Amino acid sequence: MKKFTPKTFSIPTLKGISAKTIEEHLKLYEGYVKNFNGIIDTLTEYKKNREANAYAIGELRRRISFEYNGIRNHEVYFSALEGGPTTLVESSPLRKSIETYCGPFDEFVAGFKNMAATTRGIGWAVLWYDKKDDYLLASWIDEQHLGQLNGCDMILAIDMWEHSYVADYQPSGKKQYVEDFFANLNWNVIEENFKKAQK
Ligand SMILES: [Fe+2]
Repeated sequence: MKKFTPKTFSIPTLKGISAKTIEEHLKLYEGYVKNFNGIIDTLTEYKKNREANAYAIGELRRRISFEYNGIRNHEVYFSALEGGPTTLVESSPLRKSIETYCGPFDEFVAGFKNMAATTRGIGWAVLWYDKKDDYLLASWIDEQHLGQLNGCDMILAIDMWEHSYVADYQPSGKKQYVEDFFANLNWNVIEENFKKAQK
């Protein structure tokens, strides 16, 4: 079965989020790739005797979404930090869609930051595009597998697991981490994510 290879990211010096945090965080991302590939290998082995391994196979299948989404969510997160910060210009299709479905742009950003900083527990703050209904909506994912929206594309995602920010901000600095994520955000990448999701 197909295996995954970790992607590489060219992340510049960031405001607030240290190079050491990014380095350690990338190791965690690579860990998801390794664990996903490990599940595929183990399943291949267990499937040689499905009856004897039925319980273990079921548990591994249950686990796939945790590892798989750990890969994909991190790819959205790290790629958004590549290339340096840019703004979302007023004429951009994404900005227009945000204003149609989520309200005035500045209010949307403020609300998104608030969701990221105040939702309790670890997880992800996400902006999704639903191609079936040409619809944008924001939601929270617990860990990285509980709350993914079926069939929607992840346009923008902030990793709100503590490993993303505690070393630089301490637990009490969650709000500043979210502010700095947006200060570092390359909106052009998010615009591209939106364009790809519309195809
Ligand atoms: Fe993470």
